[in-house]
Amino acid sequence: MVDFKGLEEAASFVKAGNRFTVIGHYDADGITASAIAGQMLKRMKKRFDIVTTKQLDEERLKRLKKLEGDLIFVDIGSGTISDLEELLPDKNICVIDHHKPEKRQSNFIVFNPHLFGYDGSNDVSGAGMTYFVAREVDERNKDLSKIAIVGAVGDMQDSKGRLLSLNREILADGESVSEIESKIDIRLFGRQSRPLVKFLSYSSDPFLPGLTADDEACKRFIKSLGIPLYRDNKWLHYVDLSDDEKRRFISALYVYGRKNGVPDAVLKTLVGEVYELVKEKERTELRDAKEFATLLNACGRHDKAMLGVEICMGDRGEAYRKASNLLQRHRKMLRDGIEWVQKHGVKEMKYIYVIDASYVIKDTLIGVISGMLYGASVVRRDKPVIGISVDNEGVMKISSRANWELVRKGLDLGKVMREAAESVGGTGGGHNIAAGASIRPEKKEQFLKKANELVREQLFR
Ligand code: C5P
Ligand code: C5P
Ligand code: ZN
Repeated sequence: MVDFKGLEEAASFVKAGNRFTVIGHYDADGITASAIAGQMLKRMKKRFDIVTTKQLDEERLKRLKKLEGDLIFVDIGSGTISDLEELLPDKNICVIDHHKPEKRQSNFIVFNPHLFGYDGSNDVSGAGMTYFVAREVDERNKDLSKIAIVGAVGDMQDSKGRLLSLNREILADGESVSEIESKIDIRLFGRQSRPLVKFLSYSSDPFLPGLTADDEACKRFIKSLGIPLYRDNKWLHYVDLSDDEKRRFISALYVYGRKNGVPDAVLKTLVGEVYELVKEKERTELRDAKEFATLLNACGRHDKAMLGVEICMGDRGEAYRKASNLLQRHRKMLRDGIEWVQKHGVKEMKYIYVIDASYVIKDTLIGVISGMLYGASVVRRDKPVIGISVDNEGVMKISSRANWELVRKGLDLGKVMREAAESVGGTGGGHNIAAGASIRPEKKEQFLKKANELVREQLFR
């Protein structure tokens, strides 16, 4: 049995209060975490508001001071425990998060997997942690496990081919209440919602040379397998194929990838576990955990995180329609971003790849795009990627991404970002495989030099 240190305290905190503000991170995991907290509170008939935020800087924390009621932070807050103590001394606070805590002791309640021997990049997401609290409060909240799985997938915790560890416990809950099903299938984006041709031609993770972005080539490829493009006047989606057609499609794609230089490590993840939300309408993004998560990311990364929260809490009307439009824009911006990097090149330092996209790629997208560069074969898998952007306030936003091979060799980007940022007066942190930092623009070169050095120390000790 897992000893969920802090769980009972977090559940008691929720039961004791009457008025809450939930403060959630703005990405898919934070949005799902906020929605789980919201549903839990709604079912308890407590009064609450939800706000989402990109980060918790001093100014934002001071604004929180004025908010009513007790504060529940979800998928955010672990990096700023001292600041919370200092700036919000009179507030009742509970932090439910999976980021590495800045320190192990604090005045308020912290429910964090790092404090009971699990880690937050693989084992459980912010949404998963919030789900555990909801389940502890009331067993009937088990249906919310499906939202937690969307959060975990949104944080790419299935990137080894399937969810692991505490995430599997959540998955088992979802299966036991018939909300979600896992199966082995192709993991290209758009199994549910895209017509086959677009399903292939939009694939950027992995990038399929000769197919990605070429509709005609994709049509030929599909026809050569004896698979029709439409049936009964309707475009076929991948989920419409028969089992036999699916098998043919996957093995042909695998052979194609091998022939056309898609790296083995990438091909290996072509097939893996996928998660289906069985009560959602078929052929919509909401039916597949990864598509659902991308829809939420589209909301969050374009300043509309609350739309995502509403969808997770059940809205299938206005919020869903608006989010679907945002998703189109989001996917296009990701494709344009990758193309820009392909064209303008990657700066290579001895131990890191650097993408300087300041004023070109939005600070909220630089991390997602940096992470896609391996799958798109823009960079090799031998070094981490450091992406650079500048936000609206003129702060330089750094996003770094790695892969499991590098983490296994000892890479911890969370540490690299924190130490490199602190060495130039900035802040940083995150997970071993994905982390970020904020610095002043004039410190860029000094920061990169330090990051390069720290990666060397971790990988070549
Ligand atoms: O703030 P948070 O923990 O929710 O963000 C985690 C980030 O790490 C996400 O942007 C996710 O895409 C990224 N990630 C990744 N590769 C992994 C695991 C996580 O790029 N294997
Ligand atoms: O912003 P980005 O998606 O690159 O962040 C990757 C991970 O690093 C996220 O989990 C994020 O919460 C974390 N991060 C952090 N401190 C920062 C920036 C990012 O802990 N200053
Ligand atoms: Zn998270």
